[in-house]
Amino acid sequence: MNFIVQPSTVVDATVTVPGDKSVSHRALMLGGIAEGKSAISGFLAGEDCLATMAAMSAMGVDVQQSSPTDVVVNGVGLRGLVEPSQPLDLGNSGTAMRLMAGLLCGQSFSSVMIGDESLTSRPMRRVITPLTTMGADIESHDGCPPLRIQGGKMLRGIDYTLPVASAQVKSAILLAGLYADGITTVKEPAVTRDHTERMLSAMGVEIDRVDRRISIRGDQKLASTNIQVPADLSSASFVMLAAILSRDADVLIEGVGVNPTRTGVIDILQAMGADISLQNARLFGAEPVADIRVRASRLEGGQVDPRLVSLAIDEFPVLFVAAATATGQTVFSGIGELRVKESDRIAAMADGLRNLGIQVDETEDGATVHGGQFRGGEVQSHGDHRVAMSLAVAATVADDSVTVHDVAAVNTSFPGFTECLRQLGVDIQ
Ligand code: S3P
Repeated sequence: MNFIVQPSTVVDATVTVPGDKSVSHRALMLGGIAEGKSAISGFLAGEDCLATMAAMSAMGVDVQQSSPTDVVVNGVGLRGLVEPSQPLDLGNSGTAMRLMAGLLCGQSFSSVMIGDESLTSRPMRRVITPLTTMGADIESHDGCPPLRIQGGKMLRGIDYTLPVASAQVKSAILLAGLYADGITTVKEPAVTRDHTERMLSAMGVEIDRVDRRISIRGDQKLASTNIQVPADLSSASFVMLAAILSRDADVLIEGVGVNPTRTGVIDILQAMGADISLQNARLFGAEPVADIRVRASRLEGGQVDPRLVSLAIDEFPVLFVAAATATGQTVFSGIGELRVKESDRIAAMADGLRNLGIQVDETEDGATVHGGQFRGGEVQSHGDHRVAMSLAVAATVADDSVTVHDVAAVNTSFPGFTECLRQLGVDIQ
């Protein structure tokens, strides 16, 4: 499947984007091991979260989906999961596999986790190492999936400093910590998204947070709770980009999660000159939410603050496109983690932007993007949803039509992406 995008005039609009992927995964996993019923609204019915849903069902959790976005999870309690009869297939989702490694390694039963071609090449030692130190027994294929997790292991709490800033690894360790003897502490080198900590706390789990050290005591019960999932800021960032690049559009995106551990993209775009404001700030349970107003803007290049990297980790494809339309050069550094996402996002974006006539100089953990004008042409998504969507938005301001190849992965995180862009006036097939 391809996108064919024509140069388009983006118009004023009020839009919504689907639910937050990170929060939706956690709602299923934590709801599944809570005591009682958790009703989830605003759930992201994208392929990644549906893989988590299928995995929880395969371990005996009754999950009822009355509409794409309304899900009721009947939790089985901390010790209530049962052995799945088949390997758990987590598709394209690194979040599902890494968090689930933490959840599964303290169970009484064994399990196997598999994924698609992209997931099968993603590094898992980052979770295997700390979980093994806790007493887990996890076999991998040279540090990559499939993961075979031996059941019946006694876990003990550890005090672990993450070598890379990763909310997935932090969350895996905290989930394993629920099954461990004593206290488990994780220290992060930089702040990463804290949805797990917020949701555990909302479910009555005592979790201590001092600076970047998070501690949890084992064997605590989770109380079920209703969860209203905010719209995903990562998905909203494609809409923000379309509005910023437009001639004179004024776009409102409603009910978006603006947890401060996620808003690096807003800070970086604002520093480049983007006209973005937050309105109607409120809370959906433990998560801050706002409507985001974005107006057409002229962007200026510069050095992107490396301290914001972990707060904008999924938005660099969007930021690369923004940089390509900015005056001067934009320098990204400290973004080496992008090389082990759903694709090597530094290489994938450099390839896409070069095919549209933009100069990009790559380094091992960064890139310099030279501002210019997109020409039409053919670009590859490299099987990566965020690369596909970023290049589709770039195409709205290209000189000619752009074909983005291999875009099926968009359904992992943003079902309805084409309809959303059409609401903004974009000609996308
Ligand atoms: C996620 C954490 C991030 C992010 C991913 C979702 C999560 O990964 O890239 O899309 O839900 O915890 P890392 O924590 O490995 O950087």
